[in-house]
Amino acid sequence: MKRRVEQVFAHLESKPDAVVLANATDPHLDQSFFHLFEVPGGLFEGSVAVAHPDGSLDVTTSPLEAETAHLAAKHDPHVKIHVVNRDGPDSLEAVLRKLLPGTPTVGLNFPELTHGWYLRLEKLLPSAKFVDATAGVRHSRAIKEPSEVEKIRKAAAIGSRVGTEIPSLLKAGMTEHELAAEMEYRMNQYGANGRSFSTIVGFGPHSAEPHYLAGDAKLTPGVSMVCDFGAYYRRYACDITRSFHFGPRDDELKRVHDTVEAAQQAALAVLRPGVAGKVVHQAAEDVITATKWKGLFNHGLGHALGLAVHDGGPGLGPTSDEILEEGMVVTVEPGIYIQGHGGVRIEDDVVLTKNGYEFLTTAPRGYLEVSA
Ligand code: GLY
Ligand code: MN
Ligand code: MN
Repeated sequence: MKRRVEQVFAHLESKPDAVVLANATDPHLDQSFFHLFEVPGGLFEGSVAVAHPDGSLDVTTSPLEAETAHLAAKHDPHVKIHVVNRDGPDSLEAVLRKLLPGTPTVGLNFPELTHGWYLRLEKLLPSAKFVDATAGVRHSRAIKEPSEVEKIRKAAAIGSRVGTEIPSLLKAGMTEHELAAEMEYRMNQYGANGRSFSTIVGFGPHSAEPHYLAGDAKLTPGVSMVCDFGAYYRRYACDITRSFHFGPRDDELKRVHDTVEAAQQAALAVLRPGVAGKVVHQAAEDVITATKWKGLFNHGLGHALGLAVHDGGPGLGPTSDEILEEGMVVTVEPGIYIQGHGGVRIEDDVVLTKNGYEFLTTAPRGYLEVSA
């Protein structure tokens, strides 16, 4: 993990003496903690990671996941585990005071630090000066190492397998909940560590709301649907959307699907390192703007993907000025949403390579009409 820690400091102007990442109670965990300390299991509630400019990392853990923590650190001489107890010389407070003596300048990852932890750190280290370490943490996390890409690839393979199977699961009368449950069951069966976000299954008009979840609507012949879902594999997420049509063809939604596919192709044609995210968004939007569905693509083209489904790194939104780099993983997800009728979204995950990109998701993207 030394390289990841060094990357944090390399992208910080404030040059702090240490960077501290602190977890509160699940789900208020700093996902960047798991970027610097790669550990497959455990909750790590209340744990703290103290990163140093020389690339070393101190990690505190409760006895509840001590064995997992020690195992993860076993082959990395730069990681030291501190098992903390409620009080005494091994208390969290005592360990942190020892790790951060004197009047240190301490970098904090503000986007994922709770206010409660901030107040606690102020009390614990009254002589410390706290500075914002967001930029370094964000950049280190945005550029995925091969081992991180492999985990996302595995999650994406699981998601793609389920995406390919969805047509065989469709039955008239089934509810959105039932389809979502079957999809999640299959992801877990194929090796997922759970879903990476609440599964979206929208039938008919519900497919026109990008962040719909899944409800009681029943599948009836003649409707389109959007299925947006993802697996976690050893903490890393995938995020995939496929849109299907059930029963007799809807000519307008078929043309919408063709347009969304063309928008995705246009975006992929310009996606490569050195380009700003907003340029990629614009390429997709231009395709949609040239049709009668102008204005019905109402979200950004894509976002960073990794330890979280919305990973916080540079994305592909209309205002994303940040320049894309090799090793970033992003989604490419154009959509068109016709209120009261239906929507289409196609979403894939890609890793940026030296000269372009590589697909991580592989399920068929074409218009799929399933007979009722
Ligand atoms: N699953 C939400 C999204 O695609 O961003
Ligand atoms: Mn999605
Ligand atoms: Mn997405």
